Amino acid sequence: MKIGIIGLGFVGLTLTSVLASKGYDIVGIDIDNEKCNKINNGISPFFEPELENILQKGLKKKLKIESNFSLINDCDFIFVTVGTPQNTNGSIDLSIIKKAISTIGENLLKNKKKPIILIKSTVIPGTMERVILPILEKKSNKKAGKDFGLISNPEFLQESSAIRDTKFPHAVVLGGNQTVFMKKAKKIFTKLHPNVPIIITNHQTAEMIKYANNSFLATKISFINQLSNICQKIPGANIDDIAKTIGLDPRIGKLFLNAGPGYGGSCLPKDIKALINFANISGINPTLLNAVEEINAKQLKQIISIIKERLEDLASKRITILGTAFKPDTDDIRDSIAIKLIKKLLKKKAKITIHDPKAMKNTKKIFGDKINYAKTVENALSKSQCAIIMTQWKQYEKLNNNEFKYMTKKFVIDCRRVLVKKQLDVDYFAIGLGKKN
Ligand code: UGA
Repeated sequence: MKIGIIGLGFVGLTLTSVLASKGYDIVGIDIDNEKCNKINNGISPFFEPELENILQKGLKKKLKIESNFSLINDCDFIFVTVGTPQNTNGSIDLSIIKKAISTIGENLLKNKKKPIILIKSTVIPGTMERVILPILEKKSNKKAGKDFGLISNPEFLQESSAIRDTKFPHAVVLGGNQTVFMKKAKKIFTKLHPNVPIIITNHQTAEMIKYANNSFLATKISFINQLSNICQKIPGANIDDIAKTIGLDPRIGKLFLNAGPGYGGSCLPKDIKALINFANISGINPTLLNAVEEINAKQLKQIISIIKERLEDLASKRITILGTAFKPDTDDIRDSIAIKLIKKLLKKKAKITIHDPKAMKNTKKIFGDKINYAKTVENALSKSQCAIIMTQWKQYEKLNNNEFKYMTKKFVIDCRRVLVKKQLDVDYFAIGLGKKN
């Protein structure tokens, strides 16, 4: 059995590496030659814990990395894991996936097997039937369900735990018609993930499950963030104790109740916007989803007004940002709230110094020499008038008076409450804590 994986981003490269490390015959394909070369040398183009180890294991087995699509011609399974970014109006941009699907279709013409094509990329409900299937049938001159299988197979992995999530998913969703291809897919997934629920449904429902998942997670975050704003007005209130306790109720669950500066990353913001856009054009006013988005945007505004309250005019004020990655254990800064914050502060002519254990290089690609980059937290804080902890990196939990002592004005905004339990000689503001009078 040979498996092709098209698009070597977070989802594609993780899947490629995990399956290859298990000894499957895998060909990973990406149009970016430079990226392919790196991967072939055992180097991941982005930081993800454990990924390089697993990739290198795979390369010692039967893994091939290529930019040549014709290698899918003898594949039994073809996973599509290319990106589906967003247009400026929030709608989904299908140009990349359409191109990939066209090329797969052209190659299908030459495929002597009857492969199963599994779409992992996130697409708006209806895309499989209205866009992907017609392109495949037209380009290949073959019929879905007869000459090849087409299955929606949404992905739920999180960056920073991508390997674990790929090895041990909480569920497998297979959307499509009940054909022999579906039976075959179910069999292989049962073998790959024994004891994991496999949900078999139609394309539209599978597509919608992905949006339901991400929008519910975003809703949980905005819920706790709104509550944290209320807590800030109650002297002594602590959002973490509240989250911990309500999380013990199995109907609520403890995850995704960590209040902070708002959700970022390449998925939640984009998927919420796409679902809002889709609801609107379907004639449904998505009031709850709109509120989720609005609360998220307000978290950033809140941080800026707190800085302004203390520092007043921000021009020439030295502000330190600790953490630019959209979450810890990644170097990904896509749609990171910290990046948005820096852009806003720069507009107000503040002088910014940043520190991040992994995302410095990516941050530099955006800001160049418009901001300063400190190799150590101590350097980042030296002569600063305000420090803002944006990302919950483990090392920031260890900060103490020693690190803050060279700040010109010891004002610290802790968006993740990592220093709550410390006795610090600083003016301390934490999201979600009601100041004691
Ligand atoms: C998200 C989903 O969690 C995955 O299930 C999904 O597969 C993925 O999107 C995707 O669609 O590809 P990811 O983007 O890796 O995964 O990031 P999350 O861990 O969901 O975090 C998103 C944002 O929410 C981060 O900015 C994080 O700091 C924030 N967050 C998360 C909170 O502010 N509080 C929380 O309690 C949890």
